[in-house]
Amino acid sequence: MIKIAVIVVSLRAKSWNKLLAKTLEDLLPGGYEFVYTDLNLPLFNQDLENILPVEVTALKNTIETADGILIVTPEYNRSVPGVLKNAIDWASRPFGQNSFKGKPSGIIGASQGQTGTAQAQSHLRNSMIYLDTKLLGQPELYISVNKTFDDNNILLDSSKDYLQKYIDTFIKHIETNKKVA
Ligand code: FNR
Repeated sequence: MIKIAVIVVSLRAKSWNKLLAKTLEDLLPGGYEFVYTDLNLPLFNQDLENILPVEVTALKNTIETADGILIVTPEYNRSVPGVLKNAIDWASRPFGQNSFKGKPSGIIGASQGQTGTAQAQSHLRNSMIYLDTKLLGQPELYISVNKTFDDNNILLDSSKDYLQKYIDTFIKHIETNKKVA
């Protein structure tokens, strides 16, 4: 099985981004699986780096054993939620033990606003490139939830093609860039 570590950034029970991740999971081809990360982590504190909290070790392990990383994020105040930045900072440390290094990665996100997480994704690109992931450039997908799901939270037919195209392109990106053991 090819593993994709999925970082769903919202902790909210009825999160649109959780729904988006589940919708993408349903579009995966055979032989691929999503492994969901848990972002309930302590706040980053450099004093704790030498004996990492167990939740952080679990996050780093999930990322390191995955063939690719998909971040599914809301936009908060025109940037990434603090929950995500906290997780990224932990997973990038201690110095020299950046769990993201060399991993094929993708970014997608859903918001209730018209611009569908465009600015959060733009800010996140800076970090993912700096962290030396192999970041998928295109397609970019900015999901505005009321244009993508119906009143019963079912994916609209008009949205299926571009979500399928995203997942197919991301899978090809993983195949091209994943490390061979
Ligand atoms: C938001 N929301 C929001 N939406 C947006 O399009 N751009 C933004 O900058 C913000 N900022 C923002 C800040 C904070 C603190 C909250 C709580 C919300 C609205 C956001 O799109 C909406 O709450 C989504 O439903 C969040 O995603 P989940 O939790 O449904 O996955």
